[in-house]
Amino acid sequence: MALLELKDVTISYGKREIVKGCNLSMEQGEICSIVGESGSGKTTVIRAVLGLLAGGGKVTKGDILFEGQTLLTKTKEEWRKLRGTEISMIFQDSGAMMNPTKKIGDAFVEYIQTHENISKKDAWDKGVKMLERMRLPSGDNIMRSYSFQLSGGMRQRVGIAMGMTYQPKLLLADEPTSALDVTTQAQIIRQFMELRDEYGTSIIIVTHNLGVAAYMADHLIVMKNGVIEDQGDRDHMLHHSDNPYTKMLLEAVPSLGGVRYV
Ligand SMILES: Nc1ncnc2c1ncn2[C@@H]1O[C@H](COP(=O)(O)OP(=O)(O)O)[C@@H](O)[C@H]1O
Ligand SMILES: [Mg+2]
Repeated sequence: MALLELKDVTISYGKREIVKGCNLSMEQGEICSIVGESGSGKTTVIRAVLGLLAGGGKVTKGDILFEGQTLLTKTKEEWRKLRGTEISMIFQDSGAMMNPTKKIGDAFVEYIQTHENISKKDAWDKGVKMLERMRLPSGDNIMRSYSFQLSGGMRQRVGIAMGMTYQPKLLLADEPTSALDVTTQAQIIRQFMELRDEYGTSIIIVTHNLGVAAYMADHLIVMKNGVIEDQGDRDHMLHHSDNPYTKMLLEAVPSLGGVRYV
């Protein structure tokens, strides 16, 4: 059984159909990249998977299945249990998502306590352990910091640590490296790949950088104007696609950390 399946999914804001007829199937442990220009519907697709469409957005046709079960009829309570434990999301800039008046540790403890009946002390220790697992040395110091005291790369690692606390089966990442310099970008990308290798996490990563996508993904999806214009396994997409739009994107790939991956 596929881990995640989108079957002919159409997503609308009000009466406007924004994303049309999307089909996608992902196995456990697979990394899938969605690329496409700004406004093509990438964020809309992954927000639909997490049941978090903004501003009256709704799946108006088709179905989204997670482990064979539809996500479209989940109640608020069911979503509360699912988000963060089975499916997690990493945002473009985790720092922007964090309350600037709250220390990382307080936010992390609060996050853990919404998912588990656990003491503050145990939640704190769990947070420290997760930070250190995500290669953030001296987790205790980070817990005592405010997000603005950390670099963009560190904030993103904190976001990943939070998202990975319960080892979700699926991680959704919306342009997780766009706000970072190229060297840090490459480190974060490698970290995502390690998560897949160590925990078998499936990842959907949205990026406008086809270089990043080609480097890390098993499966590539190209979106344009709300439709999936082209998709396939990495090798096919990089070397054998005859879609003119995919070919054009490939020709325009910038380098990542000084290295060209395609
Ligand atoms: N909350 C919203 N209400 C109405 N339209 C929206 C909303 N969010 C996004 N859109 C529209 O949906 C389209 C796709 O947006 P989005 O999914 O954010 O694209 P991408 O992530 O690829 O840049 C855009 O045309 C955008 O204007
Ligand atoms: Mg977007």
